[in-house]
Amino acid sequence: MSDRDPFVDWMRHATPYIHAHRGRTFVIAFGGEAVADAQFPSLVHDIALLHGCGIRLVLVHGTRPQIEERLAQHGAQLRYINGLRITDATALRCVKEAAGMVRVEIEALLSLGLANSPMAGVHIPVVSGNVITARPLGVIDGVDYGHTGAVRRVDHGMLRAVLDQGAVALMPPLGYSPTGEVFNLSAADVARSTAVALNADKLIFLLENSAETGTSRLLPNLLAREVDALLTTTPDLHSEIAACLRAGADACRHGVRRVHLVARRQNGALLRELFTRDGSGTLISAEPYETLRPAHINDVASILELLQPLEERGVLVRRSRERLETEIDRFVLTERDGLVTACAALYDYPQEGMAELACLAVHSNYRGARRGERLLEHLEHQARTREIKRLFVLTTQTAHWFQERGFQPAGLDALPMAKQALYNFQRQSKVFIKSL
Ligand SMILES: CC(C)(COP(=O)(O)OP(=O)(O)OC[C@H]1O[C@@H](n2cnc3c(N)ncnc32)[C@H](O)[C@@H]1OP(=O)(O)O)[C@@H](O)C(=O)NCCC(=O)NCCS
Repeated sequence: MSDRDPFVDWMRHATPYIHAHRGRTFVIAFGGEAVADAQFPSLVHDIALLHGCGIRLVLVHGTRPQIEERLAQHGAQLRYINGLRITDATALRCVKEAAGMVRVEIEALLSLGLANSPMAGVHIPVVSGNVITARPLGVIDGVDYGHTGAVRRVDHGMLRAVLDQGAVALMPPLGYSPTGEVFNLSAADVARSTAVALNADKLIFLLENSAETGTSRLLPNLLAREVDALLTTTPDLHSEIAACLRAGADACRHGVRRVHLVARRQNGALLRELFTRDGSGTLISAEPYETLRPAHINDVASILELLQPLEERGVLVRRSRERLETEIDRFVLTERDGLVTACAALYDYPQEGMAELACLAVHSNYRGARRGERLLEHLEHQARTREIKRLFVLTTQTAHWFQERGFQPAGLDALPMAKQALYNFQRQSKVFIKSL
């Protein structure tokens, strides 16, 4: 009987993420629909788990269905012009009531500490307040948007103090003006501005509208500039997704490291996104300062230049220009302003389900900035898509770097036969293998 236990495997695979997320600041935005859903307690439990992992949390909630429900009781409804909502005096009253009610519900769920619930013995302090200063949208093209506003400033000092105390900050889509007025804001705008003001590590949008309305058309990874192109070429994208994409790309450009779009209705999607390698949603990141791309024949000279000093020191095996030219399609590289800063190659042994990671080299001026790791991650992903189960490397001077990234020492006999036959006994390289 196999002693593999999926729970233990899962826990071990999640451990690097638990360490990586501790002490980080995440802004999580969700719509009022999430709060109205019978499954909302499960989402709150997941959020409580993140808090328990030491993540500094800011929650931004929407209130649209709650506002609409109240307006309907007054025989009214929200009016939109050019995609912007108009907030008149009746709507503003409903906005305030809805924000109050949603806040109390979230606070109640985060206070739950009953035995035999996932929150047993947990008490999570929640703080809300006049964090956002807003201004009126005003009159645009002759339309007066009333109490609909835009974020002007975020009191990040106050938010940081709240997070330093270990509390969760709760942000309604409301803002206050120095004239004492209250403004109805879009939750995406509040989330974006807050993430930027806090220089957050992650901004996460939990989306209501999934496959049938557009997220299936999103790639797992998007650059901010690709988001702009997508918004222009896909005018029929659901308005919620478009608003979050726009806010996300903008946040990235203003220093937020990662923006995630996750389908809220998928049970556990938030945890999967944060604690598994491939996540479940769409990740938006800023323009890479440096590109990672397959090598072309024109790169041969630059790669030779990069490898030469390492070959002279015996760190890498010497490769002729001819060999490099024939094998260039196995190489990937990182490039910055036309300079090749790092390279690596993958040689498949499909029969054994193995591949060799070779020629990993980072330019000496550019070491220690995770380029090596980025190339390794990229090639691991490439290998996985080709059904490769194990990656091996032969090294003389870099054993610990590979061991620290999950490679295990192995014997020569663990290598594919073809590779064993080529082993250079004079070099005495050590063999390391990583299961993918
Ligand atoms: C090994 C190498 C690829 C790492 O690239 P990098 O972009 O600098 O690496 P990362 O930023 O991802 O990692 C940096 C860490 O690796 C460590 N490291 C660098 N070289 C190492 C080595 N030979 N052995 C063990 N650890 C090493 C650094 O000390 C640093 O760790 P720290 O932050 O804890 O101090 C790069 O140093 C290099 O090109 N070395 C020469 C070529 C080589 O050895 N290639 C492997 C051939 S098998």
